[in-house]
Amino acid sequence: MIMPTSFYHILTENDLDAVVAYLRTITPVHNKVPDPIYKVPQVENVPPGGENPFAEPMMSDKVQKEFYLVTIAHCMACHTPIGPRGREYKSSLGAGGVKFSGPWGISVSRNITQNKTNGIGAWSDDEIKRAITDGVSRDGSRLGRPMGYHYYARISSDDLDAIVAYLRTVPGSAE
Ligand code: HEC
Repeated sequence: MIMPTSFYHILTENDLDAVVAYLRTITPVHNKVPDPIYKVPQVENVPPGGENPFAEPMMSDKVQKEFYLVTIAHCMACHTPIGPRGREYKSSLGAGGVKFSGPWGISVSRNITQNKTNGIGAWSDDEIKRAITDGVSRDGSRLGRPMGYHYYARISSDDLDAIVAYLRTVPGSAE
């Protein structure tokens, strides 16, 4: 369940081909990995609207492109709380509160809804972009793992604008 496959159903044929083409360039390495041990049924929680591959013409629609980018960046994989039936997209999209433990300790995904006190509703666009690409919060403090700031640092400025535009549409949640 760690691999966010539910956020990749939306991938256009071109983008999926590009991912495969990139994988073909990785130098083969012999590395036998242990079999997985699953303790619960593996479920997929596809975000509403991301069930099917997007067709190329949909990418010229601004709103659809914004949703596409946030989906493949799987922001809501970590930032939407998980209830008994999976991620609570309908009631708490982007509300945060998911705990991640690892060698870094325990981090908790934050509220990235437009709530002005608990979320990022009062942040400027530049403050939001800095958090995504540099891992620095509004008050200047360093954000920790597992969010992949260094991967997001290479997002083009147009795509970053689109991601911020999408975040501006996420209704405020007080969680
Ligand atoms: C792998 C999980 C994960 C993914 C994917 C992820 N985040 Fe995060 N994000 C976190 C965690 C955990 C924190 C808090 C880190 C901390 O407190 O040190 C965080 C922090 C943030 C913050 C800072 C909020 C604050 O109050 O300081 C913003 C903004 C944010 N994420 C937006 C996004 C966006 C936009 C995306 C997609 C482009 C995204 N995140 C993808 C886990 C994730």
